[in-house]
Amino acid sequence: MAAGKGTRMKSRLPKVLHQLGGRALLHHVVDTATRLNARSAVVITGHGAMEVEASFDHFTLGMNGFSLKFVRQEPQLGTGHAVQQAVPALADDAVVVILSGDVPLTTADTLQALIARCAGERLALLTIAFDDPTGYGRIVRATAAPDAPVLAIVEHKDASEAQRAIREIYSGIMAVPARWLKAWLSRLDNRNAQGEYYLTDIVKFAVADGVPVVAHRITDAAQVAGVNSPVQLAELERALQLRQARALMEQGVRIHDPARFDLRGTLRCGQDVEIDVNCVFEGAVELGEGVRIGANCVIANVRIAAGAVIQPFCHIDGESAGVDVGEGATVGPFARLRPGTRLGRGVHIGNFVEVKNSALADGAKANHLAYLGDATVGERVNYGAGSITANYDGANKHRTVIGADAHIGSNCVLVAPVTVGAGGTIGGGSTVSKDTPEGALVVARGRQVTIANWKRPVKKAPPAQ
Ligand code: UD1
Ligand code: CA
Repeated sequence: MAAGKGTRMKSRLPKVLHQLGGRALLHHVVDTATRLNARSAVVITGHGAMEVEASFDHFTLGMNGFSLKFVRQEPQLGTGHAVQQAVPALADDAVVVILSGDVPLTTADTLQALIARCAGERLALLTIAFDDPTGYGRIVRATAAPDAPVLAIVEHKDASEAQRAIREIYSGIMAVPARWLKAWLSRLDNRNAQGEYYLTDIVKFAVADGVPVVAHRITDAAQVAGVNSPVQLAELERALQLRQARALMEQGVRIHDPARFDLRGTLRCGQDVEIDVNCVFEGAVELGEGVRIGANCVIANVRIAAGAVIQPFCHIDGESAGVDVGEGATVGPFARLRPGTRLGRGVHIGNFVEVKNSALADGAKANHLAYLGDATVGERVNYGAGSITANYDGANKHRTVIGADAHIGSNCVLVAPVTVGAGGTIGGGSTVSKDTPEGALVVARGRQVTIANWKRPVKKAPPAQ
């Protein structure tokens, strides 16, 4: 169900498209569905339907025999009415798991257990006990015994004082045989406090038809928590991040403070990886054995090989081209690596150095205040402070090639396309626009002029009055 408006988000964006851990809420839910070996998922859209459906463009529809279908619910007349729209898309022999697009953290394990309780013939409800159950549908049982038969779900607004005292609530998630679901949906009406078609009314039909109703009660509130407001979104973000951090720590990753860790994608780590506080990982990130990440780094779409160290305050984003950091390399503090950066073994990138679409071979160094764009840099090159590649002529980008063991002095401009020969030296302050031979010293700057005993002009005295 993803048709609701989400008024309390106070946003133009449909609620189910708000991001949690770098993905839309609804995509978390659909992703969980794919892990249930389901034949298909049916997404019920309404508010912002076009946008919600379009958000799946990148999704491989029909992967592994799993198909994603959309049905529209317009207008929105309640959860029972929502599921009625999906009826034509449901096979009679199926078990249907009903999920909410704004409840992102239910685990596949929990849903498998719920499906097992349904066993193709029962109505299985996911429930939880809350100290404050205000607003939720209450699980009404035959007696006060915790395992007494379930008789009905009564919505908060329709509940009596005695029913409002019930702490066990319906999570909004159920597993139900399709043939029964279809029969019960056709019997719903909207004679209730909200004038809506309540999905939850099917419980009393199940009881009347002699179909067993079972409650699968869990204790982890995050798994049934919905997002209705920015505050709840932030709470669930932290719950997701703690869950991800814990899973990584269980694999041996040393996260200095799981409360200050953010993963918005996938992070694969070798042994003995250490991550300091306030780091954000996005897209696909791989950290090899013994990699250390300093505090306050943003690291996206990058592979960092064993033993490399990222000092604090680095921004590394490979976007679609990726970034590779070689074994034992050191980067930062305050470095920026952009798409297409390939650093070899033992490369050093220091503070205020920007690298884009450039390969630095083993042992090359750019330690301070430099720019390398569209460059091929040989082994052991030393690239001086303040030097840049002028790779853009205002219309096109050009390459700079620096041969192995070259030494580029400070404050040089390498005007691409240009090649610096292997083993050559470029004097500080040079603007190099022609290729330079191997092994040569090239100086391309104004000669130093010396005038001995230079007398500075003296200020004239003001004219006498
Ligand atoms: C529902 C349950 C309640 C349960 C609670 C858990 C009903 C009648 N009540 O209440 O027992 O405790 O969830 O959070 O089912 N939606 C549609 N179309 C609609 C109405 C809703 O797609 O016409 C979607 C919403 O976008 C949301 C989900 O269904 O994703 C649940 O709707 P919501 O209004 O939050 O349900 P509640 O009334 O809170
Ligand atoms: Ca709700």
